[in-house]
Amino acid sequence: MKGKVVLVTGANGGLGTYVTQAFLDAGATVVGTSRKIQQSDFESPNFIAIPAEISSREGAKVLLDQVAARFSRLDVLAHTVGGFAGGQSVAETDDATFQRMFDLNLNATFLLLRAALPAMRKTGNGRIIAIGSRAAVEPGANVGAYSASKAAMVSLIRTVALENADAGITANVILPGTMDTPANRKAMPNADFSKWVQPTSVASLMVWLAGDAGKDMNGAVIPVYGDV
Ligand SMILES: NC(=O)c1ccc[n+]([C@@H]2O[C@H](COP(=O)([O-])OP(=O)(O)OC[C@H]3O[C@@H](n4cnc5c(N)ncnc54)[C@H](OP(=O)(O)O)[C@@H]3O)[C@@H](O)[C@H]2O)c1
Repeated sequence: MKGKVVLVTGANGGLGTYVTQAFLDAGATVVGTSRKIQQSDFESPNFIAIPAEISSREGAKVLLDQVAARFSRLDVLAHTVGGFAGGQSVAETDDATFQRMFDLNLNATFLLLRAALPAMRKTGNGRIIAIGSRAAVEPGANVGAYSASKAAMVSLIRTVALENADAGITANVILPGTMDTPANRKAMPNADFSKWVQPTSVASLMVWLAGDAGKDMNGAVIPVYGDV
């Protein structure tokens, strides 16, 4: 990945931390973004922190303008930003929860892709890797807003794969099951953590998809469910 510019969204998150480190270890220049990202979050000289709120049109555009101004190229978009809400049936789901899920999981993805694609099309060999969820294709009771927003996001990524193959861009989406993150361990202290997906596995897969070996994979929806 030497010489490649990679934008990792959610770079300080439970998964994004590993994704950022994996791309840095692979030799890429990594722009890490989130609302609270700091330059001190990663020690590497190849890490650049750019804080942004990507669920707003202006926030996503300013972020990509900053990347363009600094590097004049974007090779890889590794999009991990997302959020979860559960515990309410569809009949019980309030407007704010439904809107929050769609803002974070779908609208942010749309705004980011729309802002990033012009630069990626110029690069001629771009890679988009997004993080969906198992729930996108296997809805469960009481997670309707989350599942629907992730399902729509998967559809959007597959459309982008079709629309941009002519410019050498691939777009794929990974569907993790429950991951072994600090937040999940805190929320489910009695679970068997060994059955969960390791964030490093997802991070390695993202680097593989972004590398030469991943160039023939386009429009894929990839389950990574762990031991279930
Ligand atoms: N954890 C799981 O078990 C699991 C399972 C399946 C799928 N997933 C998916 O995997 C992805 C990563 O999950 P995770 O557990 O790592 O989540 P997480 O720890 O909550 O991290 C979310 C990241 O997104 C950033 N973020 C949130 N809202 C943002 C916004 N409006 N603008 C910019 N950045 C924002 C957060 O940083 P700031 O607060 O600094 O903005 C953080 O870096 C998500 O898409 C999630 O839906 C997770």
